[in-house]
Amino acid sequence: MFSRFKKPEGTPVKPNGAAAPGAAPPAETAAKPGPAAKPVVARKPASPPTPAQAAADRERKRKEKMSELKVELHKRLLDNLNLSALEHASESDLRQEIVAITGEALEEMGVVLNKEERTTLHQELYDEVMGLGPLEPLLKDDTINDILVNGPQQIFVEREGKLELTDVTFKDERHLLRIIDKIVSAVGRRVDESNPYVDARLADGSRFNAMVPPIAVDGSLVSVRKFKKEKLGIDDLVRFGAFSEEMAAYLQAAVATRLNIIVSGGTGSGKTTTLNALSSFIDNAERILTIEDTAELQLQQTHVGRMESRPPNVEGKGAVTQRDCLRNALRMRPDRIIVGETRGEEVIDMLQAMNTGHDGSMTTIHANSARDGVSRLENMISMAGIEMPIKAIRAQIASAVNLIVQASRLQDGSRRMVSITEITGMEGEVISMQEIFRYERLGLAPDGKIIGRFTATGIRSNFSDRFRQWGYDLPASIYEPATE
Ligand SMILES: Nc1ncnc2c1ncn2[C@@H]1O[C@H](COP(=O)(O)OP(=O)(O)OP(=O)(O)O)[C@@H](O)[C@H]1O
Ligand SMILES: [Mg+2]
Repeated sequence: MFSRFKKPEGTPVKPNGAAAPGAAPPAETAAKPGPAAKPVVARKPASPPTPAQAAADRERKRKEKMSELKVELHKRLLDNLNLSALEHASESDLRQEIVAITGEALEEMGVVLNKEERTTLHQELYDEVMGLGPLEPLLKDDTINDILVNGPQQIFVEREGKLELTDVTFKDERHLLRIIDKIVSAVGRRVDESNPYVDARLADGSRFNAMVPPIAVDGSLVSVRKFKKEKLGIDDLVRFGAFSEEMAAYLQAAVATRLNIIVSGGTGSGKTTTLNALSSFIDNAERILTIEDTAELQLQQTHVGRMESRPPNVEGKGAVTQRDCLRNALRMRPDRIIVGETRGEEVIDMLQAMNTGHDGSMTTIHANSARDGVSRLENMISMAGIEMPIKAIRAQIASAVNLIVQASRLQDGSRRMVSITEITGMEGEVISMQEIFRYERLGLAPDGKIIGRFTATGIRSNFSDRFRQWGYDLPASIYEPATE
């Protein structure tokens, strides 16, 4: 019975015999040994809980109880609700039904809840039946970017670039698995022991990845990158300090004059966001085709064709790779091709497209610097089974790629464009590059924030003439390094 758990205030006794919080002597007095006491051994009996601990304990018990109650009520709901009729029920009908069924059940179980508890319970049950259970409030919270689940008892979220642990939990692994299953089956996928991980896009555009035991050792791992209705634009990024006004002007010229651009960066460094923002500089008259593993880009232009690759089905058939999409895209008369992330064999077709008349194509790669990005491209080409001398591979890269924009998530959680580097050609066997802009770290503020600034390196762009010919006459001053 609920009243058993909701202890009346000031109950004096705890099961282990420790005095109740109110009656507890101050901790030091209790622990102080008497004069004759040996200074050693005798492990202190667990000291009585402080009022804060006791409150936390009560809260934990209350949560446990609510969670048990929810499971029981959920079971009853599923027993009592006509699930196929549910699909057509309106939200208010369903809510009413939940209130009615829980009311009945609570009465039967002799449980009394206050209004707030009832409201929470109704909402949680609704989320459980119709939505994604404990994940639902996190998905609805617009201040949260990412949700990271490490087994049923630990859910982290990312807010403003910082990870924080939430007090949201799943009842147990089975509960978590049920929610995962609900998510993936809704998008026609499956995840189980023989197929232990899945990467999918949810109906609302969010990216979802799950890996279940036994591959995930301590319980299922889930990560959700929430879809932002409003993608960050160039102005937002400048305002947030992701890059400077000068860099924005330079990038505008680079995109508009159809340079081939690669955005490089680590996981979650803001590559896709940057790519999306850069695309806003494309002329509205152009035909753009986008190719992604999970469609995240949101281009503002009128003439956009979007493609999403498809993994094989359970029988291992039906895969359509990014490379398949890309090859097909080349027959679809694109002005520009944007590949969300180049990570495999499609690199060859991407470079070829960049080299053969689809100037102004863009993609992202996973790398930590412009140089590293180039090596990644080389590796991808060799891995794709192309037998070419390294010099030829590099020549191919050097003539295809004009610009590498390096995004980075710094240790204080801020995301910045730490470098813009032009590829200028080959020198012997080496690809030559010049950095035009960079982020300079100057120090660390007491609150852990990085102090730094964007600066030009003093090198004038190799493409200045091109920019000018296309009507983007950038003032020479934007290439001047920052002074104190
Ligand atoms: N400059 C920025 N300031 C604040 N938030 C940002 C910034 N850039 C990106 N974000 C946010 O960071 C998250 C990750 O960004 P994004 O998806 O672009 O990264 P990514 O490098 O493409 O990640 P992945 O490696 O997973 O593909 C998003 O929620 C995005 O809205
Ligand atoms: Mg991305």
